[in-house]
Amino acid sequence: MSANTLEVNRTRFRFDDQDAVWLFGYGSLIFKADFPFLERRSASITGWSRRFWQGSHDHRGTLEAPGRVVTLIETPQARCQGVAYLVSPQVFEQLDFREKNGYLRFSTDMTFHDGNQTQGLVYIATPDNSAFLGPANEREIALQIATAAGPSGPNADYLLHLAESLRSLGDHDAHVFEIEIHLRQALK
Ligand code: BEZ
Repeated sequence: MSANTLEVNRTRFRFDDQDAVWLFGYGSLIFKADFPFLERRSASITGWSRRFWQGSHDHRGTLEAPGRVVTLIETPQARCQGVAYLVSPQVFEQLDFREKNGYLRFSTDMTFHDGNQTQGLVYIATPDNSAFLGPANEREIALQIATAAGPSGPNADYLLHLAESLRSLGDHDAHVFEIEIHLRQALK
């Protein structure tokens, strides 16, 4: 699949009679909400793990030296903590453009902090997209992140912001926090 998912996403969901849609964010959407929203709530989804397995050559890296950003990988029993935003359907046009480097919208169930559940959408970069990098150990990932930078800034800022935001949510994501330790050493 081509990395540019802009056109595919436009045809994926119809929001005919919906005034507002829940969007689950597990990566940059947690700390960079540059879109209007009606409500923001701590939430989680099950069956998925957050992994720095997606290449970024349009935000946190370049074609020659891609950065690494998060996607979700199917993992039975796992729970991924993040943030849910209630947004108007128009917001997806803006987000489809921002996340056009391999991310497709999927429907998902999500659970709010208070235990209530709802359905919404989530952006996932699946392994068949051409920017997908796949697994590497946490130290290797940190070393790649330490040197990558793109139009949205240093890849290191992305990881450090995400780790800080997850701590604020009370989450302990072992994958992210281990990369953070190696990254802080590499940046010294
Ligand atoms: C997110 O934070 O949910 C997100 C991450 C990457 C692409 C799109 C959304």
